[in-house]
Amino acid sequence: MPTLRVWARIEVLEGDITRLPVDAIVNAANSRLAGGGGVDGAIHRAAGAAELQAACRKLGGCDTGDAKITPGFNLHARHIIHTVGPVYRDGQHGEPELLASCYRRSLEVAVENRLKTVAFPAISTGVYGYPFEQATKIALRAAADFLDQYETIEHVTFVFFGEQDYVAATKVLEAVRGD
Ligand code: APR
Repeated sequence: MPTLRVWARIEVLEGDITRLPVDAIVNAANSRLAGGGGVDGAIHRAAGAAELQAACRKLGGCDTGDAKITPGFNLHARHIIHTVGPVYRDGQHGEPELLASCYRRSLEVAVENRLKTVAFPAISTGVYGYPFEQATKIALRAAADFLDQYETIEHVTFVFFGEQDYVAATKVLEAVRGD
């Protein structure tokens, strides 16, 4: 069970993830790492699409639930960790485990690269259709469990796009902390 000290290292924010000055922002990518719409498109535009695409091409794609790293190029963030969330079907096709794995693997990649501050978007909750509250619960729990084990990650920010998602996420955070 994560302690209060762990929850103090987790923050929920409303805003645009591309603007955050953290060691790494996480991208909700596709398995070809080819760029796309949503947060992926915003990150590619803000980082510099040509350079980031060239870096992504060298990675040879990414499995669902896995994560890979590139430089952040023009972003304030020094790195981008690309992870591929599951497409939501009915929750009975391994989606919860794969979504949790996105958060865990992204944080593992951060540890491997000696990064201390990481910001996540709400992976899979846009085009990939994951129900928002369920996804946010999984995200917060996965991060808290990880931080409990790895002291080197100092701060994890969850960035929500728009007030509605932000308010919903703060409620999920309260519920998860109280579990
Ligand atoms: N900052 C933070 N969050 C954002 C931003 C932004 N600039 N832009 C969008 N979002 C939010 C959306 O509101 C949504 O809650 O990111 C969340 C994830 O939505 P998507 O970007 O659609 O990601 P996902 O559901 O994981 O689908 C991935 O979308 O375009 C593609 O290439 C991507 O194929 C992949 C798929």
